[in-house]
Amino acid sequence: MDNISNTTGLGGETEGREKIFLATLFPKLTQWADVPWDTMEHCHIPKNKLILGFVQCTRRKLLHFVTARSELISTPITSNTKRTVYIQYHQNLNNEPRVTTSIENNRCIILGIETSCDDTGAAVVDETGQVLGEALHSQHKVHLLHGGIIPPIANRLHEEHIVEVVESALASSGVSLADVDAIATTVKPGLPLSLCVGKNYGKKLALDAGKPFIPIHHMEAHALTIRMVEKVEFPFLVLLISGGHALLVLAKSLDEWKIIGQTIDDAPGEAFDKAARRLKLRNIPECSSMSGGQAVEYLSREGDPRAFDYPTPMWKYRDCSFSFSGLKHTLYKNIEKLEVEYAIEGGRVLPNIRDVCASYQYALTKHIVRQTQKAMIYISTRELLPEENYSLVVSGGVACNQYIKTALRVLCHKMGYTLFCPPPKLCTDNGIMIAWNGIERWKAKTGVLYSKKDIEAVDIQGKSPIGEDLTDDVRSLGIKVKNWIKFR
Ligand code: KG4
Ligand code: ZN
Repeated sequence: MDNISNTTGLGGETEGREKIFLATLFPKLTQWADVPWDTMEHCHIPKNKLILGFVQCTRRKLLHFVTARSELISTPITSNTKRTVYIQYHQNLNNEPRVTTSIENNRCIILGIETSCDDTGAAVVDETGQVLGEALHSQHKVHLLHGGIIPPIANRLHEEHIVEVVESALASSGVSLADVDAIATTVKPGLPLSLCVGKNYGKKLALDAGKPFIPIHHMEAHALTIRMVEKVEFPFLVLLISGGHALLVLAKSLDEWKIIGQTIDDAPGEAFDKAARRLKLRNIPECSSMSGGQAVEYLSREGDPRAFDYPTPMWKYRDCSFSFSGLKHTLYKNIEKLEVEYAIEGGRVLPNIRDVCASYQYALTKHIVRQTQKAMIYISTRELLPEENYSLVVSGGVACNQYIKTALRVLCHKMGYTLFCPPPKLCTDNGIMIAWNGIERWKAKTGVLYSKKDIEAVDIQGKSPIGEDLTDDVRSLGIKVKNWIKFR
């Protein structure tokens, strides 16, 4: 704990007088300076209050103080006093000078770095979830030209942009590297060549600056992002749907995750991206710079989800596994047939593209909703979540999809769950979620590496299961669903 309660020595200097002391938090309040009242005038601190302690000073430009009566006073500040503490000093009833000041237990600022796939992201976040600064460089357009992510190209682009992205995040935060408490970086799972860039750079920054290093699991970061913006307590159910994963996980604590279902082949984002490529959606001007999922969702808005009947995978199975590859092949076959029917050649797209997209999106959604419904039944049968607090967190790039979210909302409503989903910007890959996972680990004092030896030993892992796989237990239960939730 950064504790500044022990201020021996101040009494002698200031006895009998009222003063304000200004201290710079780092390094640890060793330098004190007296500042006159008028420096604080613009802070509107009521002069008649005995202010015992500084609690926190945030980028919202508010200083919070605790008074002698444990009241909290918040006051706007105008100067750049982010890392500065003001303490008003008073005599107590016995005429003894006393300053008992402490800052919040877990006060911290973390720099997060993300390079697991095709986005180079960095962000500076504080323990309240305040994003002090951020930067993101997306390789999406380059990979679009190649028809998919080519790992060596992703590696080169991460190398080219990592320095500017991290520097830009720091610069926009107004926080210097020296003020950062630790550096959190994605090291698993992901594309090995991409992960290496962030891992090497993050480790180097930590070692050069003498800062702790926090290795981050990309999927854990997706799952925990919601806790930055909403109060979601462990344990909760998480549905992670992204370009690389489909996972139903029980989040028990920062370090305890149980897999209830996962994909046996493709990920849903991949199913969207491959469909978009095959449907040549990039040739539709409005869709030219969208991700595959975004483009399919956009076109589906005016399409008929009943126009084509795509099968729902795995619903008869007594588990919560996902499979998207069969659905993709059914779509491919349907496209071939339609292209012959409409004599489609070259870069032209199908005339009924909106119906094709809407029907495909409906089938993907139905699959996701059904497997999630089974997971909810498994959870209640095994009593894995407290009944009074059934929460479903959905995250990952595909969680940006409004249609899927609406269907999940219906499911949650019927099953007695509350649905939580981070804003779209936080669902796709970014540095903020990595910094936030760093904050969670810092506060919980778990997974933070301090020694040079430990930091140097960190390596990447392309594959890394988020936790223990409960699929066999799910199957052993033989879940039967009496009423499938309808969302259409
Ligand atoms: O989480 P993310 O940024 O990267 C991975 O870790 O995979 O997810 C990217 C994926 C892409 O496949 C993209 O097509 C999909 O998320 N995505 C969407 C939407 N926006 C992005 N899928 C469906 N609907 C969307 N609106
Ligand atoms: Zn991701």
